[in-house]
Amino acid sequence: MKIKTVFNCQKCGYQSPKWLGKCPDCGEWGSLVEEEETLSRREGERGWDFEETTPKTIAQIELDSEQRIKTKIAEFDRVLGGGVVRGSVILVGGDPGIGKSTLLLQVLNQLGSEEVKVLYISGEESVIQTKVRAERINVNSPHLYILTENNLERIIKIVKELKPQILVIDSIQTVYSLDLQSAPGSISQVRDASGKIIFLSKATGISTFLIGHVTKEGAIAGPRVLEHMVDTVLYFEGDRGHPYRILRAVKNRFGSTNEIGVFEMKDTGLTEVLNPSEIFLAGRPEAEPGSVVVPSLEGSRPILIEVQALVSLTSFGIPRRMAMGVDPNRLSLLAAVLERKVGMKLYNQDIFLNIAGGLRISEPAVDLGLVCAVASSLLDKPVDPSTVIFGEVGLAGEVRAISQSETRVKEAEKLGFKRCILPKNNEKRFQAESRLELFGVSSIEEVLGLLFRKGSRERSEKC
Ligand code: TYD
Ligand code: MG
Repeated sequence: MKIKTVFNCQKCGYQSPKWLGKCPDCGEWGSLVEEEETLSRREGERGWDFEETTPKTIAQIELDSEQRIKTKIAEFDRVLGGGVVRGSVILVGGDPGIGKSTLLLQVLNQLGSEEVKVLYISGEESVIQTKVRAERINVNSPHLYILTENNLERIIKIVKELKPQILVIDSIQTVYSLDLQSAPGSISQVRDASGKIIFLSKATGISTFLIGHVTKEGAIAGPRVLEHMVDTVLYFEGDRGHPYRILRAVKNRFGSTNEIGVFEMKDTGLTEVLNPSEIFLAGRPEAEPGSVVVPSLEGSRPILIEVQALVSLTSFGIPRRMAMGVDPNRLSLLAAVLERKVGMKLYNQDIFLNIAGGLRISEPAVDLGLVCAVASSLLDKPVDPSTVIFGEVGLAGEVRAISQSETRVKEAEKLGFKRCILPKNNEKRFQAESRLELFGVSSIEEVLGLLFRKGSRERSEKC
């Protein structure tokens, strides 16, 4: 029999019958590799039957109240939308060494101690290595099974025999099928293995976590295709230099994608951080120009973050705009607004921006904080350390309302802040009682006047 081959893009999974120098889908050069065609969808090969093959009306389908298995690690459950859904497949991505294996082992241990039968399959570490790690982080549940294996057929056989409720495959790139000629980790192997494992999960109701490596560019290596196939995609991220790790859902069929879980890496493994605001603000320089506190919202949960800006004269050439933790384009845009609308001279200044603690923020509510931090550094005047600032900034220099101002103000109140600068429209519609002094603003000019022009208004003396 002639083996049929296709050319697979190793970056995005695009398939072509001919070799091409450049992938037409993702634009990568030299990424197409000839591989054997995946036959995972061939009928009869499955060996698994879905229980439900006849259509039912939606009213007939009964929901089992135990659809979700709670891991009792609150940070983890929240990101998943309230626990692990039965039969779901969850892809966990993250840089090497960030703590994926540690996190999943701890989750399994917790589930195991609730008498849930769990299986951890490692394709990277021997059982002894896993045991050594487990000892260190105090993982010793009697219901936790460990296996080192990377052959797909054997994995499926063992899973069918053991029938765990939760399965972890660490990592999906190490799993290979003997049916295919391509090397382990290649796109057809990854796609074939994930397809079969996903099918196994759906048919048996086993919830599966697939751990995926991340490439230098930040995408889960190869399997962008994988992101479409699984139910949930979680990213475990953080800065190697910081002990904090953030678990973030980027896709979730069973919950919101805004939620984050915060963990701290210690020498005894990961611990939950229940009060992230305090931690992210610890070590904040008070009364230092360029530092502003913003109550940001991650999903349903407010976190106070410190925005730091440093503006310094460009020594030569084009001024630099560098941002860590926020979109650099957003910074360029806000710098242009500051320049045009309030006449700040930034054209010959380098701007460096950082969100302390290695957090990444993408919501527009942080805009006003960025603007104030940059202005504060340029003017070399500190912002009052007991003030928090939030609001979206438009191109005309207007300050726009944002969502859930009450939640944000409440968090600032809890941490002992005294004043809050917020969009005027939010202040007008503010519904809760607050011990904070609220200052509604409608333009960035107004905010800067309030913060830095002492004595120009009665209010400004307080800020
Ligand atoms: P690991 O879970 O192996 O990362 P991944 O599976 O994402 O590659 O984590 C490895 C890192 O975590 C390693 O650099 C050491 C650190 N670590 C601790 O700081 N404390 C611990 O208790 C453990 C187990 C690991
Ligand atoms: Mg690992």
